[in-house]
Amino acid sequence: MKAIILCAGKGTRLRPLTFTNAKQLIPVANKPVILYSIEKILAAGISEIGMIVNPENESAFREILGDGSNFGAHLEYIVQERPMGLAHAVKLSKNFISGEKFLMYLGDNMIQEDLSKFVNNFSESDLNASILLTPVEDPSRFGIAVVNGGSIVRVVEKPQDPPSNLAIIGVYLFDASIFEGIDNIKPSWRGELEITDAIQYLISHGRKIQGHVVYGWWKDAGRPADLLEANRRVLANLKNSRKLGTINGGTIMEGYVVIEKGAEIVDSIIRGPIIVGEGALIINSYLGPYTSVGPKVTIENSEIENSILLENSTIRDVEVRIDSSIIGKNATVSSIETKPKVHNLVIGDYSLIRLS
Ligand code: TTP
Repeated sequence: MKAIILCAGKGTRLRPLTFTNAKQLIPVANKPVILYSIEKILAAGISEIGMIVNPENESAFREILGDGSNFGAHLEYIVQERPMGLAHAVKLSKNFISGEKFLMYLGDNMIQEDLSKFVNNFSESDLNASILLTPVEDPSRFGIAVVNGGSIVRVVEKPQDPPSNLAIIGVYLFDASIFEGIDNIKPSWRGELEITDAIQYLISHGRKIQGHVVYGWWKDAGRPADLLEANRRVLANLKNSRKLGTINGGTIMEGYVVIEKGAEIVDSIIRGPIIVGEGALIINSYLGPYTSVGPKVTIENSEIENSILLENSTIRDVEVRIDSSIIGKNATVSSIETKPKVHNLVIGDYSLIRLS
């Protein structure tokens, strides 16, 4: 079986981070979200993966993932010129899939569930599709499935009056009949070819679609709060400490802490679970739980917790503790010494700054 991973969206809800970085490449616990997805797919025994990328992010994906041989995958890149919908992305993959059954995975999904059983059951069955579902509290935000005796009998996109609480979470298995569904649908009101419409077409034409309900943790890392939650979940799974960097005698460490090589910690309090990337420099600061400090980050005379700091960012002399924040690559947050005491800002488009 092959897989496709969809990474060609705009990522508007994660601006400004997504102006310079595809959202699937944003690190969670210092590892790009996409690698968690690829690991899940490899663990289910699928190594031939089509990466659906867009013209703006293709080179970044190629640079970070290459052809996948470093981690036992064979990656092919398929460019979707514009995000014209999930079903449009699948249609573009038809040649790559070449008539096989396949797994479709939304690249910003992080799930706990092992996919092996889901994949194996489908490959041995005569089902036309099998779709991962999970119960949610706010069904009107999701594509929702109505299930009867294990079969999906109806799907509906973001219903105002939800007929069930089972959300379609972004992991699907299809056989080639999905292409017939896609060829028979029209763009929705938002101008996209919707995969739910193609699935509904299959249901209406008597195809067999299974709903596979899972109860483990799942996150669509589409908004800043989702990334922070994913970061907490991954760091909460740290099972031991690894201290490869330099840590001076004046530093206090508590809980599970990963300090990568070349990182330097001076006179600071580090309270895990935490990861500090290669070459980071932490001086006279407090790093609280659930913080991921990227490579070459500098934190000096400041306090920060429950946050993600991307590569080469700087936090210096900030008086108030920084919490629940995502700091982009090469960004600086610092205080100014001069009078008058003001906020002096150079902020990119769509940035969000909340001052206490
Ligand atoms: P979404 O999160 O629905 O869309 P998006 O990535 O553009 O983000 P936003 O809503 O914040 O603007 O997309 C889900 C996944 O599918 C994501 O990994 C991107 C991918 N995708 C494509 O590859 N092609 C498409 O045409 C669309 C709509 C999404």
